[in-house]
Amino acid sequence: MSVADLSGKIPNNVDLKSDRRLLRALESWQPKFIDWWMEMGPEGFQADDVYLRTAISVDRAGWAHFGHVRMPEYRWGIFLADPVPDRKIPFGDFAGQPAWQTVPGEYRNMLRRIIVTQADTEPASVEQQRLLGQTAPSLYDMRNLFQVNVEEGRHLWAMVYLLQTYFGRDGREEAEDLLHRRSGNADKPRILTTFNDPCEDWLSFFMFTTFTDRDGKFQLQALAQSGFDPLSRTCRFMLTEEAHHMFVGETGVQRVVQRTCEVMSEVGSDAADVRRAGAVDLATIQKYLNQWFSSSVDLFGGERSSNAATFFATGLKGRFMEEERYTDHVCLEGTYELPIVQGDRLSVEQVPLRNAMNEVLRDDYVDDCENTVRRWNLVLQNHGREERLYLPHRRFNRRVGEYAIGEFGETRFDPQGNLISEHEWTRRRDEWLPTAADLAFVKGLMHPVVEPGKIAAWIAPPKKGINDQPFEFEYVRHPAA
Ligand SMILES: [Fe+2]
Ligand SMILES: [Fe+2]
Repeated sequence: MSVADLSGKIPNNVDLKSDRRLLRALESWQPKFIDWWMEMGPEGFQADDVYLRTAISVDRAGWAHFGHVRMPEYRWGIFLADPVPDRKIPFGDFAGQPAWQTVPGEYRNMLRRIIVTQADTEPASVEQQRLLGQTAPSLYDMRNLFQVNVEEGRHLWAMVYLLQTYFGRDGREEAEDLLHRRSGNADKPRILTTFNDPCEDWLSFFMFTTFTDRDGKFQLQALAQSGFDPLSRTCRFMLTEEAHHMFVGETGVQRVVQRTCEVMSEVGSDAADVRRAGAVDLATIQKYLNQWFSSSVDLFGGERSSNAATFFATGLKGRFMEEERYTDHVCLEGTYELPIVQGDRLSVEQVPLRNAMNEVLRDDYVDDCENTVRRWNLVLQNHGREERLYLPHRRFNRRVGEYAIGEFGETRFDPQGNLISEHEWTRRRDEWLPTAADLAFVKGLMHPVVEPGKIAAWIAPPKKGINDQPFEFEYVRHPAA
């Protein structure tokens, strides 16, 4: 078991003390990170005491500590899962050879790009969520938002550690750039489109943490397989924290649906009546779901991808549960049946398996999302309602890959995955995706509730609090306005 050193400026279990150069590089990046946090982190709450979980080791039984802390004083640390003795590269052309402890020279640029792309999403989401604290429906929710935010900050630290340790000057430059790009900024946007989309209300936040953080789970799972061992170990520990982010999203939406059901049992299911009673109508919840799911599905990249094939061949990025679920770890044989657009219809093409690795990972992601929606539907079922939420088809509303809207807007799919005309799309778009009026309505519900134990009218309270604390606990000590 690795030993955590919590005494220095940067808590870690990687023996930073013994590497002076690295320690200096990280310590000089630290104040720049704090500057970024003050500028782009949660606005209006930096002086408050927040009941946060802090990683202090990778010991399964007690890896985190809970306590009130001001966010700028959060102890962002570097923790890698313990090494697996004699670990071998689990897949690809080098399957069975010893895992790499240093960067394999020929794959250096590719590996750097993989790490930077993952790293960039971490600060991006903090930027997307920076104003949400101001409209939190309860102190419990506000705390959960900030928990997600500080942990995305730690994930950035995790990736910057890899860049600074293994990529020399290039890595240091990338670490700086990660603090300079800005979500939604036209001149210096974040790398992936979803991470530039605005996330301005709490229904969006809950959908984001359900669907976009879940993309994070699957990307981290694929990288946890990596033959580059430090990346694998880093991602394995990040997954421990990621689980809470998806919990926040899934239970968040669940509580919104719960409240909507309660209101419908009083006023009926007419959307206008539900809205008048201060809850979110089911059609609007479905549109938000459609929006964030389709956007997150894009994050897996193109269905046919030579990059994906190379990442797999070189042992850098594997499949979800590569070792546990598959027997063929080389994948030079076999194909993936991919429906592709040909004129006005879909026809199945056999894609060499390695080139379909993005799609293979997306399959597992979609299954996981289906399970989540099923759990949301239990709320409706338990209230004796007939209505159900559904996951739109993965082809719906795409901006990346085979099914992305074409240059002339000709490729469109309905939520069931059927190819439809541009005319049909235009006619029905507002049934499927949030309109300006929907967004304005949801935004209009977003009034802050900062009294302990109180909650906004559009969402039900959680079944239990955090770390065995009651819901009424003062999760954030925020001076009343
Ligand atoms: Fe993250
Ligand atoms: Fe996350």
